[in-house]
Amino acid sequence: MTLLEVNDLTTYYKLKEGRVRACEGVSLRLEKGEALGLVGESASGKTTVALSLIKLLPENASIAGGSIKLDGKELVTAAEEEMRKIRWKEISIIFQGAMNALNPVRTVGDQIAETLKIHDKLTDREAWQRTRALFEKVEIDPDRVREYPHEFSGGMRQRAMIAMAIACNPRLVIGDEPTTALDVMVQAQVLQLLQQLREEIEMGLILITHDLSVVGETCDKVAVMYAGQIAEYGPTEEVFTRPAHPYTRALIAAFPDIEGERALASSIPGNPPNLLYPPPGCRFHERCSEAKPLCREAQPRTININNHHYASCHLLDRQVKSCRA
Ligand SMILES: Nc1ncnc2c1ncn2[C@@H]1O[C@H](COP(=O)(O)OP(=O)(O)OP(=O)(O)O)[C@@H](O)[C@H]1O
Ligand code: SF4
Ligand SMILES: [Mg+2]
Repeated sequence: MTLLEVNDLTTYYKLKEGRVRACEGVSLRLEKGEALGLVGESASGKTTVALSLIKLLPENASIAGGSIKLDGKELVTAAEEEMRKIRWKEISIIFQGAMNALNPVRTVGDQIAETLKIHDKLTDREAWQRTRALFEKVEIDPDRVREYPHEFSGGMRQRAMIAMAIACNPRLVIGDEPTTALDVMVQAQVLQLLQQLREEIEMGLILITHDLSVVGETCDKVAVMYAGQIAEYGPTEEVFTRPAHPYTRALIAAFPDIEGERALASSIPGNPPNLLYPPPGCRFHERCSEAKPLCREAQPRTININNHHYASCHLLDRQVKSCRA
C-alpha cells in the first residue's frame, strides 16, 4: 500500500538575486513500512525535499508546484492548521543538526511529553510515563527526563530528538543525516532502532545520508539527487549494482566503502552548479565524462529502465539517436 506519493515537487528559495531552484520536478514513491535513501552531494537539495515534505521550510522558500500525498491526503495545499495536526503524529523529522533543534529553556522530557499530550491526547501522567519509555528505547537513562538540553551530551541530544520524532508512532519518519554526529556504536544502535520501528509499526523511513553503505544496509529504495533533481531512482540493490546514470556511477566510485571493501575512491571532478543559475540541458553536463552536444541543450527525460528503476539521461533514451552518435 502506498504511503507517500510525491509528484513533480518544486521548491524555490527567493533571494534578491533571483530564485534558487533547489528542488525541481522531484517524484518519489514509498510503500508502507519501506525505507528510501536520499543521497547526493552537499547542496543537491536533499534537506529542501525533506523540509518540503513536512512543510517546515524557511520563510524565503515556497513550494512552487507539484503534489505530496501522504496516505492519499494532499499536503501541498493543506493549511498550516491542518499540517500542525499531521506533523509529529503522521509525519515527523529528525532535523539535520538535530543536536541544536531542542528548545534550550525547556527540559527535554517536557518537550516530548507536550508533543504526546497535544497529538495523542495523553494525560500528564501518561505522557510522562511514555516519555520515560521512549528514553529507554533510545538508551537514555529515564531519570534524566527533567534535564535541559545543555545537560545532555551531543549524542544524547541527537537520540532525544529521535525519541521526539518517533513519540507518536508516525507513519513516516524523515531522518536528515540522523546519525552523522554520533559515534559508530551509537550510529548502529540508532539505525537498528529505526529498523525495529519499521517492523513494529510499519513506519516508513526516508533516510538522508552521505553514507552509501548505510543506504545499502538499511534502504529498500534509493533516490540519487543532483542539483535539485532526481538523477536516478530505484531498488537499492539494483541501483548500486547496475547504476544507469553517469552521476550515480561517479558517486559510487567516489565512495570508498560501499560493500565493506576499501576500494580506491576517485572524487567527482568539478563542482555542482549554482542553483540560482543552473546550466541549460542536463544539469550534470559540465562534469559528465560521457556528455554529448545535446546534453548542453536539452534536459533529459526520465526513462523507465525496468520495473521501478528510473534514470534521467539522454544516453538511456532510445528516441535520442543523435546523442549516441
Ligand atoms: N534558506 C535558503 N535560502 C537560499 N538558498 C538556500 C537556503 N537553504 C538552502 N539553500 C540552497 O538550496 C540548495 C539545496 O540546499 P539543501 O540544504 O537542500 O542541500 P542538501 O543536499 O541538504 O545539502 P547538505 O548535504 O550539505 O545538507 C543549495 O544550493 C543551498 O545553498
Ligand atoms: S544526459 Fe548527458 S550530461 Fe547528463 S548524465 Fe547523461 S550523458 Fe551525462
Ligand atoms: Mg542537508
